[in-house]
Amino acid sequence: MIDLRNVSFSYNSHPVLAQVNLSVRPGDRIGLAGPNGSGKTTLCRIVMGLLASQSGRIEIFGKVRATESDFVDIRGRIGFLFQDADDQLFCPTVLEDVAFGPLNQGKSLREVRQIVSSTLGDLGLLGFEERFTHQLSGGEKRLVALATVLAMDPEVLILDEPTAGLDEETVERLVEVLRNSRIAQLVISHDRSFLEKTTDKLFTLSHGILKPNGV
Ligand SMILES: Nc1ncnc2c1ncn2[C@@H]1O[C@H](COP(=O)(O)OP(=O)(O)O)[C@@H](O)[C@H]1O
Ligand SMILES: [Mg+2]
Repeated sequence: MIDLRNVSFSYNSHPVLAQVNLSVRPGDRIGLAGPNGSGKTTLCRIVMGLLASQSGRIEIFGKVRATESDFVDIRGRIGFLFQDADDQLFCPTVLEDVAFGPLNQGKSLREVRQIVSSTLGDLGLLGFEERFTHQLSGGEKRLVALATVLAMDPEVLILDEPTAGLDEETVERLVEVLRNSRIAQLVISHDRSFLEKTTDKLFTLSHGILKPNGV
């Protein structure tokens, strides 16, 4: 589904990723750990086509993706949870934010209503429909951001630090949601115990080098 070969990236002259190889296949649950500033978010942004790598080869859903326009059709198929929920939520209410993606996909109002309530239900957010997103706590915003991603029924999920700002109970709910999902997952987290619970393969990014280490 996602295949990166020898992908390198620098911000100006600051090298961040060096010859990274990574594949995500159907059913994979891959964890990605690494210290602050090691390039985890940069890697996600390259996969989504939000940043262009300077070298290497990126194949997604069986097609090589090089120019910006090559990435347009992957955005509905890869669900990307941004590290900062404020980058993801832009509607006044939770209902509007979660409905936005499926409406854009051309779903009927009836289907969208159903999707919104089942997605919010899975995340323990029933009753949040009319809440104003900007008034939610950090943890609530993160869950709503995840709801907006899941509501689009993606084929792959990329979650950038999904547990940041969540209390233990909510982290456990998230573990359940991810374990019960059959969507291929790439999960970025500092939280080793969360990665051990949610993923089967673990990689660590350090000094630009991605290395496998068994969970
Ligand atoms: N827009 C940017 N311009 C210049 N340097 C950046 C930019 N974004 C991130 N960096 C730097 O690139 C490195 C990797 O950042 P990032 O991918 O956010 O790491 P992580 O997500 O692992 O914490 C860090 O040293 C960071 O300071
Ligand atoms: Mg990051």
